[in-house]
Amino acid sequence: MASLPHILVLNGPNLNLLGTREPDVYGKMTLSELESFCRTAGEKLGLEVSCNQSNHEGELVGWIQQARDSAQGLVLNPAGYSHTSVALRDAIAAVGLPLIEVHLSNIHKRESFRHHSYVSAVAEGVICGLGVEGYRLALQALAQKLKG
Ligand code: DQA
Repeated sequence: MASLPHILVLNGPNLNLLGTREPDVYGKMTLSELESFCRTAGEKLGLEVSCNQSNHEGELVGWIQQARDSAQGLVLNPAGYSHTSVALRDAIAAVGLPLIEVHLSNIHKRESFRHHSYVSAVAEGVICGLGVEGYRLALQALAQKLKG
């Protein structure tokens, strides 16, 4: 039997604190609950989902580069690096895999420094403000795209 398409879900800095970090903004779900939510959503969509989180820009860049050989698509919440990181943007452009950018909160409703994301210009799509549901929708979009 052919193996399922592999999607890598990456979460950026401070998202390891989900559940206790500003729950009124980011919700009450912990990172490990979010990751199992993504794996279960992936199963229902016929995807193999693996998840990783890092507080380090270079580590995220490394995982995006490695995904070229191991994944068919990416879901990325770049968190604070959205608003600062040319390096993440360049890594995404370099690997050329379809990527959906996700933010739990609606970054456009918040402080003006959050309104621009370096990642958005190289993302297939951007979902923000829908909480954890945004990750499920991102996986659904990738599943549809990979089916052609
Ligand atoms: C975030 C929004 C970013 O502005 C913030 O720095 C985060 C999380 C979100 O998921 O809403 O860390 O990406």
